Amino acid sequence: MILVETISDFRAHRKKLGGTWGLVPTMGALHQGHLSLVERARRENDHVAVSIFVNPTQFAAGGDLAKYPRTLERDMQLLEPYGVDVVFAPSSDEIYPPHFQTYVTVEEVTQPLEGAMRPGHFRGVATVVTKLFNIVQPDRAYFGQKDGQQVAVIKQMTRDLNILVEIIVGETVREADGLAMSSRNTYLSYEERKAAPVLYRALCAARDAFQRGERDAEKLRAAMRDVLKQEPRAHVEYVSAADPNTLQELEVVENSVLLSMAVRIGSTRLIDNFLL
Ligand code: PAJ
Repeated sequence: MILVETISDFRAHRKKLGGTWGLVPTMGALHQGHLSLVERARRENDHVAVSIFVNPTQFAAGGDLAKYPRTLERDMQLLEPYGVDVVFAPSSDEIYPPHFQTYVTVEEVTQPLEGAMRPGHFRGVATVVTKLFNIVQPDRAYFGQKDGQQVAVIKQMTRDLNILVEIIVGETVREADGLAMSSRNTYLSYEERKAAPVLYRALCAARDAFQRGERDAEKLRAAMRDVLKQEPRAHVEYVSAADPNTLQELEVVENSVLLSMAVRIGSTRLIDNFLL
């Protein structure tokens, strides 16, 4: 496993090693959620690249960019046993040199939910992922269902721009009490951490209703809100039962539904979803 910090070095290695490539884009502070994607990429490709880049353009001004955990040494140790070929960890200037001025904007699918709460976020994500695709030129790229709207945005973008990459989606990896693993969980205090599994319980309540035959999307949203209301530390930003591809809110579930939510616990913003 080698650490590569520049685009030209990455391209040199990519040229040396032929075969198929899998890319796992990350912002580091790796946990089992990231590692499950790496494991799958390892199984399905000749070579695996993991990118570690805390992408400034997807953070809001005054957001948590400055305090986002940066743990490159530990990340390298975690990746070591997974048979990764290249860890690509560029600097901000390498990705966004002076006079950088080109961005990728995906339209409708970025408007609701996370896009509405975090203006500019998906423009930053779409731009950096396009750049990573152009640099790495992977055959397959791996994303987590944990960020359900991000998956929809990346799929839309690769289709619209004819990017020759297969988007593979890995299941959300959870702690024993159901809390979805996230780098941001480290911000939670002891008491907040105890409150955080309420997101999972709310999703389970709506899933149970769905499995009992409930197809009224408003009832599914209400089932989630009812559970979230019981936790005084939980402040709901949104609760959604939407079409998984367009992210438009549903009235009636005909095929599949993406149940999702963003909830603040103290000053930490948590998101989670179930795809049914
Ligand atoms: P990051 O939050 O580091 O996540 C990297 C990848 O890991 C994403 O595809 C995310 O969905 C996935 N992931 C995170 N937690 C997970 C969990 N508990 N189970 C399964 N997968 C999980 O998402 C980003 O970085 C960035 O937006 C990025 C795509 C790298 C662009 O900057």
